[in-house]
Amino acid sequence: MTTLHIDSSITGENSASRELSRSIVDRLNAGSVVYRDLAADPLPHLTLDAFADTSVLDEFLAADTVVIGAPMYNFSLPSQLKAWIDRILIAGKTFRYGADGPEGLAQGKRVIIALARGGFYNEGSPAAGLEFLERYLTGIFNFIGIEPEFVAADGLAIGPEQRAESIKQALGETVRLAA
Ligand SMILES: Cc1cc2nc3c(=O)[nH]c(=O)nc-3n(C[C@H](O)[C@H](O)[C@H](O)COP(=O)(O)O)c2cc1C
Repeated sequence: MTTLHIDSSITGENSASRELSRSIVDRLNAGSVVYRDLAADPLPHLTLDAFADTSVLDEFLAADTVVIGAPMYNFSLPSQLKAWIDRILIAGKTFRYGADGPEGLAQGKRVIIALARGGFYNEGSPAAGLEFLERYLTGIFNFIGIEPEFVAADGLAIGPEQRAESIKQALGETVRLAA
């Protein structure tokens, strides 16, 4: 059993997504854990030459479980995390186009994503249409054959009480997920 643990928040020890992703990995029967901190050790933007280096893709393919800390930046994902995704969505490796359209090739992995968002984006709420983080991550993992699971701490920028309550509730969710 191999777990790939990824963080992408820039806020270090104050990061909610880091606290949540760590809690998930600690509670899972994670086996051997490979840790990648995309803020401390960023991948460069994709270039044509970068396709020759498959180390990031190989690390993803080798993992049974992938746990990702994903903060919302400007209604979407950190560019650090996007640079990682650019290296794992590879035609012929994690998806292919066949006669019936696109087919995911990465089935069988468990992907758990810890979201941290400053506001609330529930369906029907005024900001729902600006939610491009969970929606995007669902879309790209579905595309490669994976149904991701989410834990979310929301409303973190609203105030200290809301922040504490949201993180507490999300940490409780991590217990349920790992059970
Ligand atoms: C650069 C930046 C951009 C942000 N943009 C948004 C945003 O568009 N919508 C939102 O709800 N929160 C936004 N936030 C708030 C973060 O989502 C929130 O602080 C969250 O806790 C970040 O995750 P972290 O605690 O793991 O760092 C932003 C924060 C930063 C630092």
